[in-house]
Amino acid sequence: MQNIIGIETSCDETGVAVYRPDAGIVAELVYTQADHAAFGGVVPELASRDHVRKLPAMIREVLTLAELTAAELDAVAYTAGPGLAGALLVGAAVGVGLAHAAGLPAIAVHHMEGHLLSPLLEAQPPAFPFVALLVSGGHTMLVDVADIGRYRLLGETLDDAAGEAFDKTARLLGLGFPGGPEVARLAEQGDPERFDFPRPMVNRPGLDFSFSGLKTHTRQLINNSEPADHADIAAGFEKAVVDTLVIKCRRALHETRHRSLVIAGGVSANARLRQALDSALPGQVYYPRPSLCTDNGAMIAHAGWHRRKEGRIDGQIAVRPRWPLEELTAV
Ligand code: KG4
Ligand code: ZN
Repeated sequence: MQNIIGIETSCDETGVAVYRPDAGIVAELVYTQADHAAFGGVVPELASRDHVRKLPAMIREVLTLAELTAAELDAVAYTAGPGLAGALLVGAAVGVGLAHAAGLPAIAVHHMEGHLLSPLLEAQPPAFPFVALLVSGGHTMLVDVADIGRYRLLGETLDDAAGEAFDKTARLLGLGFPGGPEVARLAEQGDPERFDFPRPMVNRPGLDFSFSGLKTHTRQLINNSEPADHADIAAGFEKAVVDTLVIKCRRALHETRHRSLVIAGGVSANARLRQALDSALPGQVYYPRPSLCTDNGAMIAHAGWHRRKEGRIDGQIAVRPRWPLEELTAV
């Protein structure tokens, strides 16, 4: 199997890419929907409509960039879950439709496996086993990764995801959406030590996370502050999240005795998190390049290649808005 097209529509990014095992990412396009900024969060119905509007032209364009026709593809991989049901259905319907029309297998990919395996697309990929920290807008989890498809959940958030905490803090600070990059930018000018922030759950045993207490603390602080304090609040908030993630990663490495950590998902683009993990952890830390941290089609095409044996030619359109990562099986 050579050329795999990957289609990502689980949330508010429309991503399409062609991956080829001998060449890596051959062509890729990501369109980030802007309409959601006014609402401070993703509006599912708007997201679905935007995917419908963008996807067909993006598929044509990515094939042009890859200098391929649809007949020269070998498989279509699409995100089948987890994610917004309507948004997933758009990618699934288009992906399965394309596969069926061209007589190709369609591969249903788990979005978080796409993130988890994305560091394998880099020049120096991690070797199995490793611990993966997956931090996105919808998920925060630590996973013991024995091999592709052999995942054991070590811990996850009991309430908000790390990215969601960034997004909510951004909204309280009057910043744009998605909030992570905006909070990080404002934090650069701030003093992280000026205000005290809780480090949630770090004194409790285990590897679960909770960000709702930090969110409440941050909200109260912002309500009693002046705009001139906002950079210091952003910096203190960011440092509290980063410290919490670092402590749990160190604990996960200690418990599993693995030497490497992989970090992926939108929040893994955060520069302070990367610096902190690099300097605090004993072993090697592996990240995807920033453009592969946030949602994209390349990680779906790549994960699809590893799951190529699961391709279906029956034209069945299957999505799973809720899909536990641990249900995946070894390839
Ligand atoms: O993986 P992703 O693109 O979509 C989901 O699957 O959710 O992650 C998006 C999340 C958003 O919450 C966004 O605010 C956060 O990743 N994010 C960041 C940064 N870049 C994106 N958070 C902190 N710092 C960043 N630089
Ligand atoms: Zn994602």
